[in-house]
Amino acid sequence: MLHKVKSAGGKKESEMEYGPFAYFDGKIIPIEEAKVSIMTHSFNYGTGVFEGIRGTWNKKDQELYIFKLREHYDRLLRNCNIIRVQPPLDLDEICDVTVKLCAKNGFKTDIYIRPLIYKSHYSVSPALHGTDELAIYVLPFGDYVNTQGLRCMTSSWRRVMDNAVPCRGKIIGAYANSALAVTEAHDAGYDEAIVLREDGTVSEGSAMNLFMVRDGTLITTPLTSDILEGITRESIIELAENELKMRVEVRPIGRTEMYICDELFFTGTGAKVAPVIEVDSRLIASGETGPMTRRIQKLYLDVMQRKVPKYRKWCVPVYRKRKSKVAAPKKRAAARTKRR
Ligand SMILES: Cc1ncc(COP(=O)(O)O)c(C=O)c1O
Repeated sequence: MLHKVKSAGGKKESEMEYGPFAYFDGKIIPIEEAKVSIMTHSFNYGTGVFEGIRGTWNKKDQELYIFKLREHYDRLLRNCNIIRVQPPLDLDEICDVTVKLCAKNGFKTDIYIRPLIYKSHYSVSPALHGTDELAIYVLPFGDYVNTQGLRCMTSSWRRVMDNAVPCRGKIIGAYANSALAVTEAHDAGYDEAIVLREDGTVSEGSAMNLFMVRDGTLITTPLTSDILEGITRESIIELAENELKMRVEVRPIGRTEMYICDELFFTGTGAKVAPVIEVDSRLIASGETGPMTRRIQKLYLDVMQRKVPKYRKWCVPVYRKRKSKVAAPKKRAAARTKRR
């Protein structure tokens, strides 16, 4: 069952479908009761951190699989240190409560899970003191972008620098930058924005990392290019190297290099693997999804559905009875790839 929730002010155009239950104030409660005051610090200053996690419905298994649940929460808990919020639950507890929340919502469709840890106190001072809260809500979620081929523009907005407003983690306030870039692209008739750094090299999309193919090599921008440390990015590097035997290079990408490359695609929890077929009115190669992108896209979608035995550990079932907590910490450490 789904609930339609109107935004504050009850404007019809903001209506969206959400799961009927949320985690708020230490409990799973009806979503209508999960409310914050307009005086909340993070509402005023963007002081908090969030995650975006996908669950994929596998019709054959009649099961909902959450992709890299522990890895997402590991990132969230680490990012708390950037914006100085205290997580009220540890990694095991937050994974467990998320699985329970998903089960309680009863989805039999692809979903998106949105946890937030935020400054919950009331204060006019932006200083990072005061209390923190955890909230989690869930919504049904299909394709976030068109995964057949995106037309993009280079944004006139520069990517926020990591040492201005940290963009390495999902800091709430930093998403004003993404909002400006993607809205400009939509207003100009494009599907998405590609955002450059202050030095003019490529950073990423508004909510996705970028990969390019040149002469058979898969290339992506380094973690020091003011990008989010993307979990899909890390997964794609691992799958491309270990399963598809592709050569992967992590290095800066110049703007005009995108115009002359062989293939270009975004990766992200929302975007999954989304081919970019045009940038700044220039077709990328023939203007169609390239062969390497296609192979990566297929493998990634199979992995998310828990169809690839070696990578089943990346998918956490929601409804199947679990003997213990979500994956053992030891396994989690083994599952981590080297960060590049
Ligand atoms: C700015 C930004 N870059 C990249 C990504 C992709 O990261 P991930 O693959 O962890 O979803 C996201 C999405 O979460 C994002 O918001």
